[in-house]
Amino acid sequence: MDFHAIAQRAIGDMPPETRFRPEDAEVIRAHRDLILPLAEEYVTSFYDVLFAHEPTRDVFEEGERPEREATQVDFFRRIVEGPHDDEFFAWLAFVGPVHVVRQVSNPMMLAMLDYMVLYVMKKFRGHEDAEAVTEAFVRLGATLGAIISYGYEVAWQEALQNVVGMPPALVQRMVHEEAQRMFPLRSHGAS
Ligand code: HEM
Repeated sequence: MDFHAIAQRAIGDMPPETRFRPEDAEVIRAHRDLILPLAEEYVTSFYDVLFAHEPTRDVFEEGERPEREATQVDFFRRIVEGPHDDEFFAWLAFVGPVHVVRQVSNPMMLAMLDYMVLYVMKKFRGHEDAEAVTEAFVRLGATLGAIISYGYEVAWQEALQNVVGMPPALVQRMVHEEAQRMFPLRSHGAS
């Protein structure tokens, strides 16, 4: 898989108004002294939420939580500190397949990205820059979700191609034709 290409394609599909931008990175970095100390408490609550819900709890193996918490703390610090460069976004495209392997669904992942955004929003309530910080995190969450979920989709497609042993273009055409058959849309000529 070409993780750089996946990240660029996901970002390219997002209307520019919705993407994480350099100004957002600046806003987050400018408030790093308030955001970074939240890391540990945020991650503990993140895993409390996942472990309180059976479908998400079932993803984890016995004794795995400390390791996963450490990864999320590093991840949170990385999204605050940057750099938000091509390497960072390409690495996020790799997080999708990692989740496929562990059977973490996109609904689980996307819901927890919203959890992160809401967490920061609540902590900044009443702060003079609350709106700017919240907006930056909303666009960050949307961009992370786009890249990770697209990486997930591509990993699925490639695994399927390997299983059925067909060239990618052929599989994609067959899937598209089958989807049109299953879900005929009026706007595409069906009556
Ligand atoms: C906010 C949404 C999420 C983000 C940003 C995220 C991010 C990450 C990252 C960065 C890694 C480490 C990848 C690596 O370098 O190896 C990871 C691994 C993992 N994540 Fe997530 N994750 C999210 C949601 C979830 C959810 C909801 C679950 C479970 C219900 C989950 C379960 C896992 C597991 C089990 C691993 C370990 C994979 C392995 O190495 O075996 N993640 N995630």
